[in-house]
Amino acid sequence: MSDEANDNGPSADARNDDPADGWFPESVAASYDDPGGAANAPEVVTPAVDVLEDLADGGPVLEFAVGTGRIAAPLATRGVPVSGIELSEAMAARIGSKPGGDAVALTMGDMTSTRVDGAGEFSLVYLVFNTISNVTTQDGQVDVFGNAAAHLRPGGLFLIEVGVPDLRRLPPGQDTVPFTVAPDGHRGGYVGFDQYDVVTQEFSSNHVTVSPDGKGRFYRIPFRYAWPAEMDLMARIAGMRLKHRWAGWDRSEFTADSTTHVSVWEKV
Ligand SMILES: C[S@@+](CC[C@H](N)C(=O)[O-])C[C@H]1O[C@@H](n2cnc3c(N)ncnc32)[C@H](O)[C@@H]1O
Repeated sequence: MSDEANDNGPSADARNDDPADGWFPESVAASYDDPGGAANAPEVVTPAVDVLEDLADGGPVLEFAVGTGRIAAPLATRGVPVSGIELSEAMAARIGSKPGGDAVALTMGDMTSTRVDGAGEFSLVYLVFNTISNVTTQDGQVDVFGNAAAHLRPGGLFLIEVGVPDLRRLPPGQDTVPFTVAPDGHRGGYVGFDQYDVVTQEFSSNHVTVSPDGKGRFYRIPFRYAWPAEMDLMARIAGMRLKHRWAGWDRSEFTADSTTHVSVWEKV
């Protein structure tokens, strides 16, 4: 599962990064919204915002791990009341500079446990761009589902967008799946690969960059994968049941060959 959401490693001087910002400190946040980044393209953002606006049913809504407001800010411009929880000050500092960003009610904290004003009244909680995988233990992921349910009103919805674990690409005895191999001769090169531990369900995304002068950088980010069915069980523990499972924001059918899913659970 190439983790595009986390592929942008430190691009600037990392010496001033605050460790409290986790894997998204200033040196990552600085380029997160760079023009040309696929995740910020209107053809990616708009379909997501369309679905979220529809499911919000007027709101209010809460984004877990709101980041720089890539999704929350455009959703707020549509008149939906949006709150967000975020761990990284460096990421959150960018929300206000976006159209609609000033309207996003931000709470700094960990989405496994942080409660925001209005808990119990939200119509929709959402967690997109593979970010459930940034929580690297099963207990932590169960807590995310529990915290989402605690913020929802009865009948409210919890939505997750995440890749399907790429384990079908692992032959017996192999634990590594390359997702980009881009040798570029005299201008350096890049290799990206995921490495899986199928016992713990931990995996890592690994980025090896060689610059034109031959210097290398190895950047490794830890994750945990969960099958859609495991997430259904986490939802059930939290008092929710599956309402939709789509292959993407176009609401297409989820099949055995789907590489991502957008899943929606309803608080019973
Ligand atoms: C890939 S970015 C996604 C940001 C935003 N949701 C988007 O779609 O662009 C992941 C974000 O999750 C945040 N994050 C990771 N773990 C978190 C946690 N346990 N609680 C709150 N935020 C977290 C990171 O700081 C980062 O901003």
